[in-house]
Amino acid sequence: MTDITRPLTLHDLARLHRAGEKITMLTCYDASFAALADKAGVELLLVGDSLGMVIQGHSTTLPVTLDDVSYHVRAVARGAKRAMIIADLPFGTFQASSEATFENAARLLAAGAHMVKVEGGRVIHPTVRFLVDRGVPVCGHIGLTPQSVHQLGGYRVQGKSEDAAATLREEAQLLQAAGAALVVLEAIPATLAATITAELSIPTIGIGAGVSCSGQVLVLYDALGIYPGHKARFVRDFMAGSASIADAIARYVQDVKAGVFPAAEHSF
Ligand code: KIV
Repeated sequence: MTDITRPLTLHDLARLHRAGEKITMLTCYDASFAALADKAGVELLLVGDSLGMVIQGHSTTLPVTLDDVSYHVRAVARGAKRAMIIADLPFGTFQASSEATFENAARLLAAGAHMVKVEGGRVIHPTVRFLVDRGVPVCGHIGLTPQSVHQLGGYRVQGKSEDAAATLREEAQLLQAAGAALVVLEAIPATLAATITAELSIPTIGIGAGVSCSGQVLVLYDALGIYPGHKARFVRDFMAGSASIADAIARYVQDVKAGVFPAAEHSF
C-alpha cells in the first residue's frame, strides 16, 4: 500500500480491508503534521473535533464549530498529498435535519475533506443514508461518543452490559446498511469490537477497542505525548524511544500494521 503515491480513494481502503491489512488513521489539524503523517504512510487523517481539547484547550469537544473544523481541514488538505481526509461534523451541525447536515457536510468537502464523520447510530443512520445518497462518504462513530459526554456521565467505557453490547452491534449494522464507509469504535471491550468487526463487511477503526479492529486511530497529540490532559488507558506515547516526530509516526504505522498496537494493556 505504501507503494501508492497518488491520492488514496475509498476503493483503496476497500482493497486494504479485503487483503486483511490494518488501516492507519491519526487525527491531524495542520499542514506540517499532515505532510509528516502522509509521508509516514498514514492512510486516513481525521480532522477531529478533538481539536477543541488539544488545540483550543477546552475540556470537551462541544464548543467546536463548523468554521473551526473547516479552517483545519483547509490546512490539512494543503499538507496531505496521499492520505484521505475525514472531517468531524461538530456537535449541533448534524442533529437538526438531514438537509441542514448535507449543507454542513458540503462545506467540509468544499474545504478539502473526502469524508465526514458523525457520532451516533440509531438516531443518525437515516441522515447517514441521506448524505451517502447525495455523494458524501460517511464514517460512523459509536461506543464512547465524546459529544455525548454529559449524557454518558463522563468518558466511560461503553458496551459492557449484554444490552449495551447488543445495541452497539445493532448500531454498527444500521450504519453499514445506511452506506457508511467506515465505523470508528471508541472505548468498548476488545471482545465486543472483535465481534462487531467480524459481523461487518466495512472496516472498523478502533480507539480503545482492541487489536481486532480493521484499523486504528489515535489523537495525534496523545500519540506524541504532548497533550497535558488526562491520558486514557488506550493511549501509547510513540515519542518515547523515537528520535523524531517523523520516526514516532512511522512507528505508529508499523506497530498498527504489525498488529502489535494496541496491546492488551491498551484495551478493555
Ligand atoms: O475527534 C476525534 O479526534 C475523534 C477520535 C477520537 C476518533 O473523534
